[in-house]
Amino acid sequence: MSKKYDINKHLPIGVFDSGIGGLTVLDKLLEILPNEDYVYVGDTINLPYGTKTPERLKEIVSGVANYLVDVPVKAIVIACNTATANSHHLNETIDIPVIGVIEPTAKAALAVSENIMVLATNVTIESNEYQDIINKYRKDDKANQYYVKCSEFVDAIEANNINTESSHKLVRDKLENYLDKKVDVIILGCTHFGLYSNELKALFPDAVLMPCSIPTGEELKRVLEKDGLLNDNVHQSDVEINLTLKHDNFEDKTKWFKKPVRKVQEIKIK
Ligand code: DGL
Repeated sequence: MSKKYDINKHLPIGVFDSGIGGLTVLDKLLEILPNEDYVYVGDTINLPYGTKTPERLKEIVSGVANYLVDVPVKAIVIACNTATANSHHLNETIDIPVIGVIEPTAKAALAVSENIMVLATNVTIESNEYQDIINKYRKDDKANQYYVKCSEFVDAIEANNINTESSHKLVRDKLENYLDKKVDVIILGCTHFGLYSNELKALFPDAVLMPCSIPTGEELKRVLEKDGLLNDNVHQSDVEINLTLKHDNFEDKTKWFKKPVRKVQEIKIK
């Protein structure tokens, strides 16, 4: 049965990921929709998502989405590709707009070029969501497409191993077979991978990096506009960060996230 809520444009927007990756999306949402308030869930107790079974991920995604609906929020942004690939069942239970990252990002990449490489978690690649959307919308069936499972990047990024000699080596070792391929656009098909932009630019200086953040923010804006849910009250965004397992170095790991944060707190999700 679907939950009915009286939503209005002054409610916050719920955003979630398994950890810090979704903050790369929230960072851009705050630029694209600066009059909105945000409630973020980093589901750190279940990190990483990208190596779990689709069955388990569906349960996890339902739990976080129901938590956000109860806040209440007026819309949910699934700032995680792995969760987006396992979220179709939410249509049956949740009445507020739910925006995933995969379709907007794939379409934005296709608008740049059809020679595409997708880097994502194992589960996202195995779900075939990117493959299906890219095949549906592309025009040139001879264009190059590469889909690379990179779940190990998530662990390294969560361990704050970013822009170091070893992170550059990790990314180079993983992608060296693709260095001579014609790739014009690289989809950062895991929201954590926005934090590996330096590593990827060093290897593929001529390719356009396509993170999920901007295409998803634009899609959210379009949906809120269409549903009359844009907050028109000009104010400083209120950002609440919730983690399902609070760790001491969260602030250290998210120094790049410069937006005002009201509080970082630990929550329990049923
Ligand atoms: N940030 C998530 C994504 O976009 C996945 C990270 C994880 O494996 O937990 O896919």
